[in-house]
Amino acid sequence: MQRILIDTDPGVDDAIAILLALLSPELHIEAITTVCGNVPVTQGTENLLRILAVLDLEEFPCIAQGEARPLVKNLVTAAHVHGEDGLGNISQLRNTDGSPLYPLANTSISSTSGVDLILETVTRYPDELTLVALGPLTNIATAIRKDASKMQRLQTIILMGGAFEEYGNVTTTAEFNIFVDPHAAQEVFQSNVPIDIAPLDATHQVVLTGERLHAETDKRPNRISQFLKDATQSCMEFYRRYVGFWGFHIHDALPIGMLTHPDYFQSVAADVQVETEGTLTNGMTVADLRPERRHPNPNAQVCIKVAAEAFLDHFFKRIARR
Ligand code: RIB
Ligand code: CA
Repeated sequence: MQRILIDTDPGVDDAIAILLALLSPELHIEAITTVCGNVPVTQGTENLLRILAVLDLEEFPCIAQGEARPLVKNLVTAAHVHGEDGLGNISQLRNTDGSPLYPLANTSISSTSGVDLILETVTRYPDELTLVALGPLTNIATAIRKDASKMQRLQTIILMGGAFEEYGNVTTTAEFNIFVDPHAAQEVFQSNVPIDIAPLDATHQVVLTGERLHAETDKRPNRISQFLKDATQSCMEFYRRYVGFWGFHIHDALPIGMLTHPDYFQSVAADVQVETEGTLTNGMTVADLRPERRHPNPNAQVCIKVAAEAFLDHFFKRIARR
């Protein structure tokens, strides 16, 4: 069983990743911290409580709210993709009696900051905690600034972010999580903590079509299925209009799969740097992935190949477990 801490900016695909992690017996979620990104961090924390209420959990991970703004840049959010509330506007949905269809979980938010909860959790589980970063890396970089030697006791950082031989999804060259806080990303990549990356090169191989989602959820009409259908409507509509198909990429689910089913994923070692000054290339992840050109001192394992169908089959078997 792997101990993990999830740092997240929920976000529809973050929600899917968190549910998948909660339904993965290979993993134990020690804590969840929120960070600014898809939505302001206060909204992200509310969304996390809504996500945790979808399952009938007997106990909740420790939760703390993290940084409200990137290290240097102003915050850029993604409400146009994830909906105004960041979860496809499910916070507006009501039962016939007027009560919220998706209420908040009955658990408290720690008074500890997200950064301090990360440091406390590493201290509690030295050399056996994996940090799963699903949003901008602001909390992680701030924790490294606060206590770099303690963060060295992380087993691994596994993150969704970056684009290498794939175009970006914010600008031509930059993926959202890195674009929002490139300074934080660069500091994390230079931290000497072992890093596994699920970039767009990998996440774009896993396409969840609306047809597949509805076929699978119609097979098992339960609370999670309803949540998946309700929460994904806005981003699937965005994809239909601007990406060209009805569906979306479950980006953040890949790091969870890389932990529980590593054989579905193939990675290469690379020396990753992040552009923090560029105008056209701000937030670009830069690495030479050519086999003959790889850097002698790699700082990350970059996932370049996914057994997409096998992973999607696994995903639906897990999600429909309840
Ligand atoms: O580029 C995709 C990433 O940005 C995902 O983590 C998504 O949730 C957004 O945060
Ligand atoms: Ca995210």
